[in-house]
Amino acid sequence: MLLHLLPLSTLLLIPSILATPVPSPVPTPEPLPLLVWHGLGDNYAADGLQSVGDLINTTVPGTFVYYIRLDENPDSDRTATFLGNLTTQLAQVCNDLASHPILSTAPAVNALGFSQGGQFLRAYVERCNNPPVRNLVTFGSQHNGIVKYQVCGPTDWLCKAYIGILKANTWGSWVQSHLVPAQYFRSTDETTGEPSQDYLDNSNFLADVNNERAAKNTTYAKNLASLDTFVMYVFDDDETVIPKESGWFAQTNSSSGEVTHLRNRTIYTEDWIGLRKLDQKGGLVFESTKGGHMQIGDEVIVDVANKYFAPEDAKMEESRAHARPGQENMEL
Ligand SMILES: *[C@@H]1O[C@H](CO)[C@@H](O)[C@H](O)[C@H]1NC(C)=O
Ligand SMILES: *[C@@H]1O[C@H](CO)[C@@H](O)[C@H](O)[C@H]1NC(C)=O
Ligand SMILES: *[C@@H]1O[C@H](CO)[C@@H](O)[C@H](O)[C@H]1NC(C)=O
Ligand SMILES: *[C@@H]1O[C@H](CO)[C@@H](O)[C@H](O)[C@H]1NC(C)=O
Ligand SMILES: *[C@@H]1O[C@H](CO)[C@@H](O)[C@H](O)[C@H]1NC(C)=O
Repeated sequence: MLLHLLPLSTLLLIPSILATPVPSPVPTPEPLPLLVWHGLGDNYAADGLQSVGDLINTTVPGTFVYYIRLDENPDSDRTATFLGNLTTQLAQVCNDLASHPILSTAPAVNALGFSQGGQFLRAYVERCNNPPVRNLVTFGSQHNGIVKYQVCGPTDWLCKAYIGILKANTWGSWVQSHLVPAQYFRSTDETTGEPSQDYLDNSNFLADVNNERAAKNTTYAKNLASLDTFVMYVFDDDETVIPKESGWFAQTNSSSGEVTHLRNRTIYTEDWIGLRKLDQKGGLVFESTKGGHMQIGDEVIVDVANKYFAPEDAKMEESRAHARPGQENMEL
């Protein structure tokens, strides 16, 4: 009975099929774990953040998602996005990741950073990178700092008080060691475009991780250049991050609006942090997406997951199938 249903070619193959042991199915490659670092005012357990992880887990099945946190208590984790010394916060995250039972045994991880979480993940790569990051994707981050603090709602008194302290004493050591956005505030001289002396002398985070001081840390450049890909998304209508081009490491003249592309800046030409080396091997990607700050469509997340978080073998199979349509069965 069965033979009736089989094409002739199969009949001819039956003797050899019987003689050869059934090959075990090709193992599906495991996706790398994914680190997700949320932004200011958010927390690791928030529904919105977790739904992004779920979408990625659905798109690339089996992805273990780890939401970076400064505290297991979501409220305290949220507070840590406003309050804390980024040096100690980052060291704590490095410790957590290096001792995590799943992450520490993975060959590598991928990473997705939202807003300030993006530059913090980049700093993790530069300073620690254990486990090492393969692909880093950031959305609306402040890689070149901010020149203005965010605008508070008209009756948000807590926000107003907080921003008031930031504005009054950005370069003071108390503010630099306690208030998070101050640590990536970056002021420049309007005529020369050079970073201000206040910034170079006092910035507790950004001036260091961007290697803007005379003494450069070569580990930072080596680690960042070791990424496969660093993808930077800027939101077309971002009004929260000022200037929004900070998300591409660009420099914006705030009076003329003129934007100096990263590739025309000294941080790149002298390769202070490895971005040039990464670019030369095709690993630096500048992207934009429509909408305001953190308005990310599901299709953008799915696209990022397929392009950067899927296992290498699966991606190769997919591109082969696309490259030679209709010929997938040639080997048979
Ligand atoms: C990812 O999805 C699998 C099922 O497909 C589930 O078992 C696992 O817990 C999910 N992991 C995370 C971190 O969401
Ligand atoms: C450079 O950074 C690495 C990694 O964080 C650190 O171990 C090292 O002490 C730093 N070197 C200097 C000179 O600060
Ligand atoms: C932040 O913490 C580090 C490590 O404890 C410390 O060395 C540094 O002085 C602190 N930063 C400021 C601005 O106080
Ligand atoms: C920024 O723009 C202003 C106004 O157009 C101009 O005077 C100034 O020289 C520019 N600064 C730099 C560094 O190009
Ligand atoms: C860099 O500057 C040069 C000269 O001003 C300009 O022609 C070029 O387009 C700039 N490159 C980028 C990537 O913006």
